[in-house]
Amino acid sequence: MTQPPAATVSRGLFISFEGIDGAGKSTHIDGLARAFRDQGRTVTLTREPGGTPLAEKLRAMVLGDAMDPLTESLLVFAARRDHLVTVIEPALARGEVVLCDRFTDATFAYQGYGRGFNLEVLATLEQWVHGGLQPELTLWFDVPPAVAAARLAQARSPDKFEAESIGFFTRVAAGYAARLAADPRRFARIPADRTPAEVWVDVQAAVDALLQARQQASTPGQHGQ
Ligand code: TMP
Repeated sequence: MTQPPAATVSRGLFISFEGIDGAGKSTHIDGLARAFRDQGRTVTLTREPGGTPLAEKLRAMVLGDAMDPLTESLLVFAARRDHLVTVIEPALARGEVVLCDRFTDATFAYQGYGRGFNLEVLATLEQWVHGGLQPELTLWFDVPPAVAAARLAQARSPDKFEAESIGFFTRVAAGYAARLAADPRRFARIPADRTPAEVWVDVQAAVDALLQARQQASTPGQHGQ
């Protein structure tokens, strides 16, 4: 990753990471946090559902207990609200980099497309919980569900979502594709069925593109060019 331009250093930066379970995003979240810290930025590395004591309690329920899709959606948005108010918004106000492992796109993908829950209700909850606030960049690690399933099969005992069928994850992936189509400027789709080194090159390129766009937007006379 190239050095961030001086003009962008004091502005908060919100990046989210998405993908079906087994997409392999964790290594790259850690790598990006290291890269920003090496540049002297303060990084808040966090996750959803979770990121606060209350939201982590809600996470345990969402990942462990059977429930209907509205209950599940309400719990993830309740966790998100607490996380936003107590962690994300204050960190952005301090000018930090917030790297968030999943955000609202996951709710549309998992509860909306995976479970088939009402997208309009989700859009209303999204508006209530975070209004216009969205990540500046969403890195979508896109991997074929069969590849992700093979990766998960080698891992620890699966939680409620990890135990879902390939059909479920095919719908979740379609949900991410729909979110990208609705807001293409925010998303970078990263084909993730490759080596970690190859994926990392794309992660760096997407973040560099964002930093350059911010630099252009903050340089007088550069608007609209
Ligand atoms: P993680 O294992 O990547 O930390 O994600 C937790 C699980 O919760 C993952 O299977 C996706 C799921 N999830 C939802 O179903 N809805 C959401 O809104 C979020 C944030 C996660």
